[in-house]
Amino acid sequence: MPSYTEAELPLLTPGMTTSAAETRRLFAETRATAPLAKGLFGPVAIHHRDVVDLLRDRRLRGPGMDFARMSGIPDGSRAWARQEQILLFMEGDDHHRLRRLVSKAFTPRAVESLRPFTRATIARLVDAVVDEGHCDAVPMLCDPFPIPVICALVGVDADRWEDMSRWASDILLSLRLDAGQFLDRIESAQAELDDFITELIERRRAAPGDDLLSNLVSVEEEGDRLSPSELLSVVAMMLVAGTDTTRNQLSTVIHTFAEHPEQWALLRERPELTANAVEEAIRWHPATEALPRFAVEDIEIGGHLVPAGSVVILMSMSANHDTTALPGADTFDITRTAPDGWHLLTFGGGIHYCLGANLARLELQEAVAELATRFSTLTLDGAATLHPPGSPIGGYSSLPIRWV
Ligand code: HEM
Repeated sequence: MPSYTEAELPLLTPGMTTSAAETRRLFAETRATAPLAKGLFGPVAIHHRDVVDLLRDRRLRGPGMDFARMSGIPDGSRAWARQEQILLFMEGDDHHRLRRLVSKAFTPRAVESLRPFTRATIARLVDAVVDEGHCDAVPMLCDPFPIPVICALVGVDADRWEDMSRWASDILLSLRLDAGQFLDRIESAQAELDDFITELIERRRAAPGDDLLSNLVSVEEEGDRLSPSELLSVVAMMLVAGTDTTRNQLSTVIHTFAEHPEQWALLRERPELTANAVEEAIRWHPATEALPRFAVEDIEIGGHLVPAGSVVILMSMSANHDTTALPGADTFDITRTAPDGWHLLTFGGGIHYCLGANLARLELQEAVAELATRFSTLTLDGAATLHPPGSPIGGYSSLPIRWV
């Protein structure tokens, strides 16, 4: 079998395109002509079938602590200790055990109970701008949206959400490839969050409430419980995993509707399509465009050998548009019914499948429903700016919109 390194394969690197539409076009051309592509670090899987299979292939593992090491987080630091207990960086039995315990506490019922609060949160943000007729959706709607919801989920009082927001922003720096440069900020935010949550845990132990932290404190399976340090890491994980993803995903959803006014009009006419519309919009432009993996053993992708040790990029943005897996995938259609066997890749797949997918869907459904109720038209009001190439999460850093 030819090694992918010696094969003539198209190159896909960050920064080759300047808009999401161009990226979709480039991926479509590449899928039509090649079984896989080459990227900056290694092979890039672009076909739906390959991405689905590789997410489940145990010969590949997640970014693990190699990512923390590469990004300059020193072993022994508080940031390192927290990342070691973040599900996405764990594998094998340790991952399985922590995921089971957290899933027991993070129940569909706990998520569903957040619906009215989530709707009130987005309604409050819309209230602040609606009379203006225009705004930059990123700072006014998307950025402030997820933190109060995560606070409500965890059981943090609403008056502390600004602290939580600051800690989230600083701890999120630990996901950058140059995280080492921000170590002081990351460590001090993590220390403040740890102190705050430790005190909250004591209060919840004494008087359990109806929130995730109370559930996490009491969750037990066959005598196994979360340790104090795991409890702190799980709260940090919820903040890290549930903030940037949701706010960026909301930005791409709004952008997609602004580019498809006829679909916005259809949604307003048929609000029962809201859940379907969200599913289609997150397929169209997933905030998590690419998922990194390490090959632990030699594997084959598209008839090419990929040697052990390679960094493999699973391009969910490309796979979500693969017309061989989803007929008409190149059209944005909120009435679509996906065929059997179709897997949406926006939330990943396999053992690391997004633990917050139900909450993320709920948040986006409530946001889209509120916006569709309040804005009879939704259009772009100037050029939208994507995050710089290579950012860990896709989406917009500026999104001027106008409505009537
Ligand atoms: C629209 C918003 C979201 C998107 C697009 C998203 C996407 C993803 C993706 C693609 C993964 C897998 C990454 C990989 O395999 O490399 C993931 C994992 C994860 N997500 Fe989400 N996510 C979102 C919101 C949330 C929320 C709201 C939470 C929790 C409050 C959350 C918690 C997690 C956790 C804990 C993991 C790691 C699971 C594991 O490794 O076992 N996510 N997410």
